[in-house]
Amino acid sequence: MITVTLIPGDGIGPEITDVVVEVFEALGVDVDWEVVNAGKSVMDKYGTPLPDEVIESIKKNKVALKGPITTPVGSGFRSVNVAIRKKLNLYANLRPVESLPGLKTRYDKVNLVVVRENTEGLYSGVEHKISDFAAESIKIITRKASERIIEFAFSYAKKNDRQQVTAVHKANIMKISDGLFLDTARKVAEKYPGIEYNERIIDNMCMQLVQNPEDYDVLVMPNFYGDIVSDLGAGLVGGLGVTPGANIGDEIAVFEAVHGSAPDIAGKGVANPVAILRSSIMLLNHIGESEKASKLDQAIKKTLVKGKGLTPDLGGQGTTRSFKDQIINNI
Ligand code: NAI
Ligand code: MG
Repeated sequence: MITVTLIPGDGIGPEITDVVVEVFEALGVDVDWEVVNAGKSVMDKYGTPLPDEVIESIKKNKVALKGPITTPVGSGFRSVNVAIRKKLNLYANLRPVESLPGLKTRYDKVNLVVVRENTEGLYSGVEHKISDFAAESIKIITRKASERIIEFAFSYAKKNDRQQVTAVHKANIMKISDGLFLDTARKVAEKYPGIEYNERIIDNMCMQLVQNPEDYDVLVMPNFYGDIVSDLGAGLVGGLGVTPGANIGDEIAVFEAVHGSAPDIAGKGVANPVAILRSSIMLLNHIGESEKASKLDQAIKKTLVKGKGLTPDLGGQGTTRSFKDQIINNI
């Protein structure tokens, strides 16, 4: 029996993490969930959106499944998601973007992975007001963090039989910071002669992904670009409701969907559980339950192909519950 930290999160978080718990029961996965919570929902009780017990639990169990957590825009508390990634040194954010059978999308052969640096860069939100008329946001890029993430991307490619790694940057304009990232990528690439290496400037990358997403394999990039490109990727294969993710460090891994707390549909019972379920497939593989992972993968694909009970974001008229029931039937 393995203990896994479960953070239900905000908005649709509890609705979709409940599905994972039920589906794991149906699969017969021997897991003991240690439920701790973070986010808006615990703010009043603890006076902080990230109580120490959350970090302690993840440190102890080394594996967690996390629902989305709301981050107030403009003012209010800083991102709990960013804090978890930083505190636990989860330096790699892995976001597979794969065409799924049965879904009506513009492409049908997309199979790429966004590897996003998760600890520094513009996304850190290190910023301050200079006066009422100006503000400054600081982008830090280090050789160490760049090397670690690019090394991760290449070794991921090697382990998973992927052919190509593309470094994504804006080193034409940010010559020093993105220049350092790019220089590091070139050096790491030399150590992997069996893997094709290429480079794309971020804006062109976005255009290419919309035109020919099938041409890309593993994409590695600084934090902020990864945030944007992974949502773009989600849009290529059926939306945020179906795209999984994982935050990975040397010892600890936190699995979560790419999407957020979806306040517009929270509480309505129509959240698509596929993204968090596919994150759970990554979790199952991570804990060595690859047979159950593939069983769940097949059940989800079968459900999508049959098209019964699907949620509105996929063009269906079902609910989170009907979707879950179909998936469990297909297990
Ligand atoms: P969002 O991802 O929550 O929603 C964007 C759109 O996608 C909405 O129309 C939503 O209804 C839809 N959507 C997302 N997940 C869905 C699902 N499972 N099924 C069906 N439809 C789904 O992004 P938004 O609105 O920008 O952010 C909302 C909140 O979530 C913010 O506070 C943001 O900071 C937070 N957030 C948290 C993340 C995390 O915990 N890792 C990641 C992204 C955003
Ligand atoms: Mg995002």
